[in-house]
Amino acid sequence: MRRVRALPPGVRLAHALEPLYTRAPQPFVGLLALRLGLPAREVLRYFRAGTRADFAKHVGGLDPMQNPDASGCIGIVPGTLLYALVRALRPSVIIETGVANGVSSTFLLGAIRDNGHGKLVSIDLPFTIDGDEPAPIMPGTAIEKEQWSPVPRGRDHGWIVPEYLRASWDLRMGDARELLPEALGEHEAVDFFLHDSLHTLDHMLFEFRAAWPKLRSGGLLASDDLGRAGVDPLQRFSREVGQRFYAVGGLGFIRKP
Ligand SMILES: C[S@@+](CC[C@H](N)C(=O)[O-])C[C@H]1O[C@@H](n2cnc3c(N)ncnc32)[C@H](O)[C@@H]1O
Repeated sequence: MRRVRALPPGVRLAHALEPLYTRAPQPFVGLLALRLGLPAREVLRYFRAGTRADFAKHVGGLDPMQNPDASGCIGIVPGTLLYALVRALRPSVIIETGVANGVSSTFLLGAIRDNGHGKLVSIDLPFTIDGDEPAPIMPGTAIEKEQWSPVPRGRDHGWIVPEYLRASWDLRMGDARELLPEALGEHEAVDFFLHDSLHTLDHMLFEFRAAWPKLRSGGLLASDDLGRAGVDPLQRFSREVGQRFYAVGGLGFIRKP
């Protein structure tokens, strides 16, 4: 309870209900769909399909609810929610920041494959482990220890994404500060944006402000790790753009009108 009280007020309820949401996600998923103006029955049908999907078995061992070594991965329930939303929205272009092992990327790419349409651009700042510290691989970059999600030794970032989903994947390595504006600039519009990289107020606001103008009408801006370190970037950003945000567990969403 103390952990929840330390969070910004706008995300406390979603965090307090997270254990319930994880055990019985469907009512939460249906309500979120309605709030986002999406067909709830269709989203729920896709959600159920996502729980049975072939790729779910690849990422099952990396659910932070089951495996403490998987902290930082998005989790199977939120990953399946992303899958269902992408199925319902049928986006052409998805951009995500923050790949680590590649759990969220797997769910997004699975939905693209099942839609038969779309592509995913993922951006991640790679690092290696030097003793107990994260050490950046790319010259001129830095990574904060509180923000790392180590991948197993000898594995590349994104290693968990199965080969059969990779055809629609454009994985780019580097700092989102540089690569996100670059990727956005290459596309006329983006349909779905997911932030899961550096969870600081400054960086999250930077990403939201960069992505929003490129988001098409009806598109979705999503952010993981809401309320981390007591910051409330999505809530602040929602006020900035005059749109409501909706949170379920640690994931929050704003739909562009
Ligand atoms: C929470 S993990 C991502 C988890 C992933 N979405 C999943 O579901 O498995 C955060 C990732 O963001 C990366 N990262 C941290 N700072 C970054 C930055 N400035 N630009 C791009 N990626 C960054 C980290 O290296 C790490 O791999």
